[in-house]
Amino acid sequence: MKIKSAEFVVSNQSVEKCPKTNLPEYAFIGRSNVGKSSLINMLTSRKSLAKTSGRPGKTQLINHFLINKNWHLVDLPGYGYARVSKSNKKVFQKFITAYFAEREQLVSAFVLVDIRHKPQPIDLNFMAWLGKTGIPFSIIFTKADKLKPKAIDNYVSDYKDVLLETWEDMPNYFITSSSKHIGKDELLDYIQVINDELKFQN
Ligand code: GTP
Ligand code: MG
Repeated sequence: MKIKSAEFVVSNQSVEKCPKTNLPEYAFIGRSNVGKSSLINMLTSRKSLAKTSGRPGKTQLINHFLINKNWHLVDLPGYGYARVSKSNKKVFQKFITAYFAEREQLVSAFVLVDIRHKPQPIDLNFMAWLGKTGIPFSIIFTKADKLKPKAIDNYVSDYKDVLLETWEDMPNYFITSSSKHIGKDELLDYIQVINDELKFQN
């Protein structure tokens, strides 16, 4: 898929205020600092469409971006960020959970996982919750520029082993690096295929 246009639409803290169009929507979720906002910029070839930061906790709202005037990409706050106050954390959890549970336009979630860290309970639990809630998702391994190809293979194979303890099949996954522009075409083509299928169904 070629990105012809990418525009910021709206930020808010409640699923009721999200755009009321019927456009298919894809959401990026994962721990703070995993690279969700950077990946949105990489995919759209826009330097600062989504705000990024070296400090975790940058994205604090549900952010909608309109891509090619016909689908939405959604940037969300990270989960599991310890430096956010407890009450703030609860607010985050509430609207993130509500977003996933109630957003009818959501076609698929992408759970981002930093390729340098061993499988984390918070990610595995979130994937389990998505599964239970019936929300399709793929895994995106981020920051692949930090590992050599062999280490990436080993990492993914170990991650698979852990997932297969609870999942029947390995979820769909992508290996990406926003700084080295790895994984862009694979991800965009995957979204294109789903968008085409949806058009066909309608
Ligand atoms: P929150 O909004 O805080 O939840 O974080 P986020 O998941 O949106 O992460 P963000 O995109 O802001 O990136 C966090 C940090 O990781 C920044 O310093 C980025 O430059 C860095 N980063 C993101 N992607 C990559 C990558 O592919 N490779 C490397 N080396 N660094 C990356
Ligand atoms: Mg962010």
